[in-house]
Amino acid sequence: MVIKELPEEVKAYISAAQGTPTPEYVIKELIENSIDAFASKIEVDITSPFSFKVKDNGIGIPYEDLPKTIKRFYTSKVYSLKDVKALKSLGYRGEALHSIALISKLTIKSKYKEENIGGILKSIGGNIILHKPFSFSQGTLVLVEDLYYNFPARRKSVKEKKFFNFVKNLLFAYYLAYENISFVLKTKDNIISLLNLPFEEKLKLIFKDKSYSILEGKYFKIIYSDDKIKNFENIFILNKRPMDFKFFEKKFLSPLNLNFKTVIAILNVPNEYIDIHLSPYKDKFEFTSKSFEKLILENIKDTFTQKIYPFYSKERFLLKEAESENIFNLKLLGFLGEDILVGYTDKYVYYFDFHLIFEIYNSQFLNLSEKQACKYALVKKGDMDLDTLKDIIFEIFSSGKITCPHGRPLFVKESINNILKKLKRKR
Ligand SMILES: Nc1ncnc2c1ncn2[C@@H]1O[C@H](COP(=O)(O)OP(=O)(O)OP(=O)(O)O)[C@@H](O)[C@H]1O
Ligand SMILES: [Mg+2]
Repeated sequence: MVIKELPEEVKAYISAAQGTPTPEYVIKELIENSIDAFASKIEVDITSPFSFKVKDNGIGIPYEDLPKTIKRFYTSKVYSLKDVKALKSLGYRGEALHSIALISKLTIKSKYKEENIGGILKSIGGNIILHKPFSFSQGTLVLVEDLYYNFPARRKSVKEKKFFNFVKNLLFAYYLAYENISFVLKTKDNIISLLNLPFEEKLKLIFKDKSYSILEGKYFKIIYSDDKIKNFENIFILNKRPMDFKFFEKKFLSPLNLNFKTVIAILNVPNEYIDIHLSPYKDKFEFTSKSFEKLILENIKDTFTQKIYPFYSKERFLLKEAESENIFNLKLLGFLGEDILVGYTDKYVYYFDFHLIFEIYNSQFLNLSEKQACKYALVKKGDMDLDTLKDIIFEIFSSGKITCPHGRPLFVKESINNILKKLKRKR
């Protein structure tokens, strides 16, 4: 690892990038530097939005390179335009520490993994006032003090509560994006410890007792809930980078009419389809291919439709169903265990929630209350013959009211074509 100045053509390519650092952005850049240094533990310790430190156990910075860290366009992560475009690291501009140093009193303590002794660097407003050997365990500590000391007017626009909430959510975003990194967030009155856990366990930590669902496709994973989680902001992670959630909402959720109270959206796409270099805070991007963007939208739509449209949007469901086939050709085959009723049409195999058929039927046609409807739904499979069941299902479909009182889906289905494809047979 050597810190070098970027070639001119790279500088020109990224030159639109730099913005004035906000405290939130400073924290984000410091965490990203720790991740790029392969840290497995990152500790963020905040005294105020103007005074905080980030400590990691990453590879550290070579003693001789310490002064270069705060020089503009000096980086150890990319050396050419090709590297920049390959987007292997979170940092790629050699600008973050430079711009942070200009507006703060900065201390960096570090020990590089291949050196025996560490070093300390101190700067005020970008002027180095100390660079000497310093005994330090492996990794790096960056301490930012008196942020905006030379721009006091800027302090006024910082809202402390918003800042703390942002940082907490940001840590959750990195926590979800990276395996094998644990995070600690220390503030005046709180310590949040995010231990390295399997992804599902991390979700439980966020959602606690609230229920959530996961949709997964080739390029995306979307975790959503109709419950609002207190103090939690929706998260969008693109190729392991936390991004502005509004962007995801605008591109993918709004066009599909999907409104959830809580969403964690994770996109992993080949780097050649995205360009993130135009955004000063690295939180926005463009798709370089419209057709790829459309493909993702279609993918998300299909996955949602397959999984949930029966209870999500009645209109969309009926329309789609009418377009694709006639549900009234349904033939019922019988039961899978106690709970699932199986049927098929020309195009799909249907798995109905047997009890739900009665819950819906009872509440809608017998005018029972929600509680009664569920109670009377405890019918056993032996109580009914398939023809009567089919009639009830048709009645539910004809009414268009295919929603369970609690919002569960009446059925899931799989296209027969899909099954044939999986069996490697063409129709
Ligand atoms: N926590 C850290 N551990 C190891 N090296 C670090 C750390 N923080 C900074 N560095 C070194 O300092 C250099 C400059 O950091 P800086 O954040 O300014 O630029 P960058 O990460 O290369 O690019 P960007 O401006 O896009 O963040 C890095 O390239 C890296 O070599
Ligand atoms: Mg950086």
